[in-house]
Amino acid sequence: MTPDIKPLVAGNWKMNGVQSCLAELNAMSTGFTKELQSKIDLLICLPATLISLGTAETKQSALKIGAQDCHFNVNGAHTGDISTQMITDIGATSVLVGHSERRTDHGESDAIVLAKANAAIASGLMTVVCIGETEVERKSGDTLKVLETQLAGSLPDEYSSNIVIAYEPVWAIGTGLIPKVSDVEEAHGFIRSEMIKRYGENGKTIRLLYGGSVKPANAKELMSIENVDGALVGGASLKAADFLGICEAYL
Ligand code: 13P
Repeated sequence: MTPDIKPLVAGNWKMNGVQSCLAELNAMSTGFTKELQSKIDLLICLPATLISLGTAETKQSALKIGAQDCHFNVNGAHTGDISTQMITDIGATSVLVGHSERRTDHGESDAIVLAKANAAIASGLMTVVCIGETEVERKSGDTLKVLETQLAGSLPDEYSSNIVIAYEPVWAIGTGLIPKVSDVEEAHGFIRSEMIKRYGENGKTIRLLYGGSVKPANAKELMSIENVDGALVGGASLKAADFLGICEAYL
């Protein structure tokens, strides 16, 4: 945690979920009590097909809806892509950019992630820029170097209060493996110092999320690490009981 930063717990449904799964979203929104609302912000990044239905479902709720990716152009001949304008048009308030699955599956470079981040920020979306090292990079002792390069290449020059960073070690995603507390502390401390180098005092206010196998059982330990200002949750964000179980780490 960082004093004066309200944590953000964000779910990423990835390519999971059909209309019937909105019942889970509804349960999350109901379970996001006033008490929890006073402690954390809550976001679910839905597959594009569910965003519109999800925003309608959570209209009266403090739970926010986000997208998982965007194109960097406002419109045009980009078959299959969605723009930030389309995302805001259907009521989403946030977007993930540079998730490792996008970087790997779609060959997204830091330059592409940067273009997407700029487009998202220009549209007023809270923009979660994802970074993280692979297993090979960690084993060869290159973690901080990789994070430094990704941050340098994927982040907008100008500070915006809509920038959020998610540190997701690739080897911890969906594997049940999590880094040692001291490794998370080191990575987040490093990211914080890079943010301050880049954005000055404003860098102290940027939320730094941890992602990778966050579950109700490990959330309290992970979320209490210095400079960890919330979580980006994959598998455990699909079920309300698990996701709310993670949020309860903040009670
Ligand atoms: P898991 O929580 O399933 O490991 O996924 C993490 C993630 O990639 C969230 O974006």
